[in-house]
Amino acid sequence: MKKHAQALMEMKGRTPIAMLTAYTCPVARAVERASIPVILVGDTVGMVEMGFDSTRDVTIDHMTYHVGAVRRGAPETHIIGDLPYQTDKDPDTALWNARRLIAAGADSVKLEGAKTEVIRHLVDNGIAVVGHTGLTPQTAKSFTKVGRTEQEARQVLEDAIAIQEAGAFMIVLEHIPYDLGATLTDTLRIPTIGIGAGPDCDGQVLVINDALGLGDYWPPFSKQYAHVSRTILQVAEDFAGEVASREFPNNIIAFPGSGKA
Ligand code: KIV
Ligand code: NA
Repeated sequence: MKKHAQALMEMKGRTPIAMLTAYTCPVARAVERASIPVILVGDTVGMVEMGFDSTRDVTIDHMTYHVGAVRRGAPETHIIGDLPYQTDKDPDTALWNARRLIAAGADSVKLEGAKTEVIRHLVDNGIAVVGHTGLTPQTAKSFTKVGRTEQEARQVLEDAIAIQEAGAFMIVLEHIPYDLGATLTDTLRIPTIGIGAGPDCDGQVLVINDALGLGDYWPPFSKQYAHVSRTILQVAEDFAGEVASREFPNNIIAFPGSGKA
């Protein structure tokens, strides 16, 4: 059963919320089978799947393509679609782009920063919004932890409260000191989902490619549960060797329903 915004909000203080990103249909299918209640189709797709150096290169067309793929793989899971760089630059632009993500299959949208007018406009028009503060990659000049000085920490707290008051139903906290993650989680009514924000958040999110070990860089706060890039290398080498030796296509091995894990 798909959890809508209200049901996710009600998990605060009751059940830790697990969130993973997904960008493709087969990955989304596995994530849904694992009963993860919420999938983020993040603009990290630009970096971890498309080879860009920054999330700023991601467009709304890229996002609708990936939201659609994830929706087809996970029909019963709450999907958050990220609004890419500048697609939320003013309230009307944001509403237009948010509607595109919803039409592609998202249940809610996420945007970076305390853009309170934008958030309020989306919510007033019936769109569920997830906030995002701390490190906000679309505008960050460096990827170091945010909120280490007292002044910076106060700014993150003020921004998070403003995002909540503007109507966001949940908030992602990225790369902040763990005690600040705990303070925010205590202060806010809405669930906090941490990525590098410590163990006291209401939930945790990982970029699935990082969790899978699919890539060549991982942020210090992620955890690799597998090493899929090594598996791909092994498969490619095995296949190349079998073509060279004319072993393939003999002894074909098929895993029935393997696409369904
Ligand atoms: O785009 C993304 O994957 C994100 C997460 C890092 C929270 O915004
Ligand atoms: Na993002």
